[in-house]
Amino acid sequence: MSASAKGSVTITLDGSNKSTRLPLLSGTVGPDVFDIRKMYADLGVFTYDPGYGATASCDSSITYIDGDAGILLYRGYPIEQLAEQSRFLEVCYLLLNGDLPTASEYRNFELGVMRHNMLHEQIRTFYNGFRRDAHPMAVMCGVVGALSAFYHDNLDVRDTESRRIAAFRLIAKVPTIAAWAHKYSAGQPFVYPRNDLTYAENFLYMFHAVPTEEYKINPVLSKAMDLILILHADHEQNASTSTVRLAGSTGANPFACIAAGIASLWGPAHGGANEAVLKMLAEIGHTRNIKAFLDDVKDKDNQTKLMGFGHRVYKNYDPRAKIIQKACHDVLAELGIKDDPLLDLAMELEKIALSDPYFVDRKLYPNVDFYSGIILKAMGFPTSMFTALFAVARTVGWVSQWTEMMEDPQQRIGRPRQLYTGAPRRDYVPVSQRG
Ligand code: ACO
Repeated sequence: MSASAKGSVTITLDGSNKSTRLPLLSGTVGPDVFDIRKMYADLGVFTYDPGYGATASCDSSITYIDGDAGILLYRGYPIEQLAEQSRFLEVCYLLLNGDLPTASEYRNFELGVMRHNMLHEQIRTFYNGFRRDAHPMAVMCGVVGALSAFYHDNLDVRDTESRRIAAFRLIAKVPTIAAWAHKYSAGQPFVYPRNDLTYAENFLYMFHAVPTEEYKINPVLSKAMDLILILHADHEQNASTSTVRLAGSTGANPFACIAAGIASLWGPAHGGANEAVLKMLAEIGHTRNIKAFLDDVKDKDNQTKLMGFGHRVYKNYDPRAKIIQKACHDVLAELGIKDDPLLDLAMELEKIALSDPYFVDRKLYPNVDFYSGIILKAMGFPTSMFTALFAVARTVGWVSQWTEMMEDPQQRIGRPRQLYTGAPRRDYVPVSQRG
């Protein structure tokens, strides 16, 4: 479904006789946008929107967020329904293709992904080039980018079949790459994927298994893993997705584009927040220190942020945070952890913040990262792996958004403008004449 013109907006430049009529476009749901593409030609001015808080950069029919109501839809399906009833690979199919698969489409898709989950043996040697204490996200950026050196014969980004195979390769190989990043840092042998396991089970297996003993899949943990993957699968035009689209708009190959997305995800304001939340909770240490910590957060001269709180789009509870908070309780119960001091601390912190005018007035609520670290830690993942797990889940979103962009006949190179505030033209002065 594409956008339709609904009306127009007329803009007149004060103090001049220049004016322009811009089309007002409607999507299926959500606020209308006005199309400013001819504004510079008509008025000689650009728009100014640092951080793109008020700018739609593309049409997309993949994911919809109503940030005020706390709604998240993948291809129209509420995240709560997918979390409850679907599986990650089915969600991958949905995001990539637009509709839920039939049973046979699903089976073919699953087989198609599995067929690509091994890494080229030569890639093993890459890992030896990293220090053992390398951050898994550094390894992910490097190894995912390096995939382009292995599939260079099949990188025609204008070819539908090449794009389809690249999508399969990326979705299939990122869990192996991430699990091996961990194995390398732990000094344990790499574990190869197994096709009798589901995507989530396979990831847990490659991550946790060792050759000396049988690895038994815990169904509660694999369900939680699958849920975490579903919740992180896509989130419309966030920083990393926009990075992937911008890189892809130049015609760069999909492996390089996804490596760019991984780099963008790494920052603590984005996917790195799950790691930062656990560090923050460890620093706070005890509920008695919450007040002093929040005083620091509210102090204008202090850079401290309440990590896992706030979101550019959600001005309400992030629906993913609600689901993950419930899953936290299930996982801790399964693992026999009656009282997890971190979860208790997080819940008390949330309660206090949600009744504090600073957070209420700014509509700051927990986002997906506030509770995801607690569940991942309970599942035996080291903190440094949290953002890498996010990257594994988000790869399908990046690939779907990249594919949608490549199929868009209006697609052109992404190239924002600027408001220049530097020196006007001036002449070069030789160094001998500079005072
Ligand atoms: N703690 C304290 N204050 C905050 C927080 C926070 N976590 N988030 C926003 N604010 C304050 C800002 O300082 C600002 O206050 P002001 O109006 O007095 O200047 C106000 O709330 C509005 O915030 P912005 O910075 O304008 O919000 P923006 O949309 O630019 O940033 C972001 C969103 C980056 C997510 C921010 O809320 C943040 O840094 N949160 C913590 C990091 C985090 O959890 N990131 C994960 C996001 S979800 C994801 O990527 C998966």
